[in-house]
Amino acid sequence: MKLRDKTESAGVARLVMHRCDELGAITDEPGFVTRTFASPAMTRANKLVASWMREAGMTTHQDAVGNLIGHYGGTDSKMPILLLGSHLDTVRHAGKYDGPLGVILAISCVQRIHQRRISLPFAIRIAGFADEEGVRYHTAYLGSKALAGSFNAADFEREDEQGVKMSSAIRKFGGDPAKLKTCAVNPSQLLGYFEAHIEQGPVLEKHNLSVGVVTSIAGQSRYQVHFKGKANHAGTTPMDQRSDALCAAAEFILKAEDHAKKTPGLVATIGCIQALPGASNVIPGDAILTMDIRHQKDTARISAAGKLKKMADSLAARRGIKVSVQLVQATQSAPCSAKMTQLLGVAVGGHQKHVLKLASGAGHDAVVISKITPSAMLFIRCKDGVSHHPDESVRISDVKVAYDVMSSFIQLLAKHHA
Ligand code: HGY
Ligand code: MN
Ligand code: MN
Repeated sequence: MKLRDKTESAGVARLVMHRCDELGAITDEPGFVTRTFASPAMTRANKLVASWMREAGMTTHQDAVGNLIGHYGGTDSKMPILLLGSHLDTVRHAGKYDGPLGVILAISCVQRIHQRRISLPFAIRIAGFADEEGVRYHTAYLGSKALAGSFNAADFEREDEQGVKMSSAIRKFGGDPAKLKTCAVNPSQLLGYFEAHIEQGPVLEKHNLSVGVVTSIAGQSRYQVHFKGKANHAGTTPMDQRSDALCAAAEFILKAEDHAKKTPGLVATIGCIQALPGASNVIPGDAILTMDIRHQKDTARISAAGKLKKMADSLAARRGIKVSVQLVQATQSAPCSAKMTQLLGVAVGGHQKHVLKLASGAGHDAVVISKITPSAMLFIRCKDGVSHHPDESVRISDVKVAYDVMSSFIQLLAKHHA
């Protein structure tokens, strides 16, 4: 690699890290990184990232659902488009890199193309997706589904914890649910989709590699589990006359953990729990949980969900209380495109001694976009595999490798597409 390129990419890596810090300071919860769908922080985040896109020579707009879209190159409908991007929303108390790193790296690649006046046989579009995590409305991938044309309009009726309907949140954010269709890209115009993302796992660290090529992305099922017992007085109700919803939930949570530990490749997580009415001297009459189940194989995920539902039903019956297990959202596992993955492997091989291919246990917008266009993902090592936590961190040297690989990958795509 020429010295000029080496110095350039070291400088870009520094800028990318700085921008992750700058964006990470934009939050709905001072002291933490929390940016949820259509929130005030997301408005400020879109504004800042749009300014970086324009600096890279892109035109920008916010679509009807709230995705930030940048476009570089020709706009006629015959011009093929390479779609890059990742998400700008975060979980609660997140790290700074899950999502934003992929968007900022993509912008740096376009900036390089713009500055060097590199001509490409395709346009580049960067999506800063509005909601990959699904924290506010518990349905993940709202932004990428709008772009892929697979958004379920019924979701507009969903309410958040404050009872705010998704449709009004979108309007308040400057979007327009009635114009949902305008978010969709024409799949026949897409050359493919490429997303760089932190690994959120320990594999690259174990192999001492900066980046890896993703082969497939795990499917996930999200449920709401509602145990319904009977609230009563904490002091006067004998232990053998209680219908305690929270104790039933506690028994279920440990059963779910035990089942996942015994089922190879399965993960089950109860991330949120609500005990109602929520007073220390009242036996909880209601316990409402979220349950997240994942497996690389859809059949294994679906069968595990069925077994866990049976466990919930039988323990509720034994305790004389009711339970409902409602599916909130299910996404199938998604293979990455063999052709794009093979090309990405060539790009990685030019910047790293070993090309490692690995599956993703985390969900990504690529799951949705891969339904409409060939998709590839590049994983970037993150410290101790930690993610969805303030300790999330990446090495600047790995960011430099990722930037070099992405730039080479775009060149390879151009060569193959010319
Ligand atoms: O939950 C996930 O796997 C992703 O981080 N949204
Ligand atoms: Mn992510
Ligand atoms: Mn995430």
